[in-house]
Amino acid sequence: MAGVTIENVRKSYGAVEVLRGVDVQVENSEFVALVGPSGCGKSTLLRMIAGLEGISSGEIGIGGRVVNNVPPKQRDVAMVFQSYALYPHMTVAKNMGFSLKLAGLPADEIAQRVSRAAEILDLRPLLDRLPKQLSGGQRQRVAMGRAIVRDPQVFLFDEPLSNLDAKLRVSMRAEIKALHQRLKTTTVYVTHDQVEAMTMADKIVVMRDGLVEQQGSPLELYDRPRNMFVAGFIGSPSMNFIGGTIKKRRFVSGNGLLGHDTDISPMAGDGAVILGVRPEHLSIDTSGIEATVLVVEQTGSETTVLLDAGGTRMTLLARERLTTVPGETVRIAPDYSRLHFFDPASGLRLGGDSDVDEPGPSDTKGNTSMAPARRTSLKNGRTGPRKKLSQALEAIGIRQDRYRPELYYMRGPGPKTHAKSVGADSP
Ligand SMILES: Nc1ncnc2c1ncn2[C@@H]1O[C@H](COP(=O)(O)OP(=O)(O)O)[C@@H](O)[C@H]1O
Ligand SMILES: [Mg+2]
Repeated sequence: MAGVTIENVRKSYGAVEVLRGVDVQVENSEFVALVGPSGCGKSTLLRMIAGLEGISSGEIGIGGRVVNNVPPKQRDVAMVFQSYALYPHMTVAKNMGFSLKLAGLPADEIAQRVSRAAEILDLRPLLDRLPKQLSGGQRQRVAMGRAIVRDPQVFLFDEPLSNLDAKLRVSMRAEIKALHQRLKTTTVYVTHDQVEAMTMADKIVVMRDGLVEQQGSPLELYDRPRNMFVAGFIGSPSMNFIGGTIKKRRFVSGNGLLGHDTDISPMAGDGAVILGVRPEHLSIDTSGIEATVLVVEQTGSETTVLLDAGGTRMTLLARERLTTVPGETVRIAPDYSRLHFFDPASGLRLGGDSDVDEPGPSDTKGNTSMAPARRTSLKNGRTGPRKKLSQALEAIGIRQDRYRPELYYMRGPGPKTHAKSVGADSP
């Protein structure tokens, strides 16, 4: 096994640069997911690791060896594609053993390796079948078997589950993860599906437009997305974004409904910021702000509600059944300990909670305007969650009872001046 090092890698097709300086470190035994919208360069990067695509500039290393000029066969990697690319005229066993035969391995060793892979993948009863006699999931397993028999240093997967139906995708997801836990082979897994990335990977690399936007553990990306793109991409349904301003340490939403005291300093002189709230961090709360229900989606285990709060569309996700109906007016409140703030111009996350944000690779592009915001938020120190919550509640006109903290009551609308000072509307 081996780690994979990708250093300032670029790729151009003619005048078009599709990878614009990518740095990724994949540790030995790690499962790394490359995720991003279609066309962002995931497959190109994977194919470059495999050696199927030349490198315009930069360096790719596998197991400490620079492989820029090493042909694919000598890289000791195995790739699994979305289109399983099985040989239709060969049985499952032959398909799995073919690369070993090409490599000149003796027949008994091939048989042994195929048998072991078939065992791991539960393919034993299918070894004599042709691909056309298999289901999609079984074909996918054969494709994986073909990779496993080679016992490579690195597995490369390119959207291996995209051709499967939703249910099978979920079970294959778990199978691949279990396989990784068992074999511990270093894995780079490409997907456009953030749920796949979140559930399978030790580390996620979010790409956009040939650049890495952020890399980190699934929960790091969920809890502290470094910009609005990552914030919107990770998590389903997507994060709600609400335009507003921060003046004198107080956030007020563009629609004037939501107010919140905060340590965060906006980058722009006019104080414009964007508030991010995940749907699962919004709840129906009699002490919250008014919103009109537009659409209610029930899955049985959860309820998704699309709302209009003062002209801003919001999605709320409840882990229980809500009986609300379209047209109804409800009150909703965010979990104030889980708000995100972003700079509207750069999209970058603004200071906040557990700081300090390590600059990601994309920071080398020169977005240093993050620094003053960070300093300010550190200088101001932290605010305890309890204090924050009461401040936050106060900001939207709710007061917590001093003697019975479980009780809240409305104070009526907040000061007019705040609502008036709001220029920006929601994006
Ligand atoms: N052989 C090629 N020639 C020219 N452009 C290409 C070639 N392969 C990929 N591209 C372009 O590179 C970009 C990234 O493609 P790709 O890596 O396949 O994206 P992803 O896998 O993230 O969907 C796309 O805009 C695609 O059109
Ligand atoms: Mg692709």
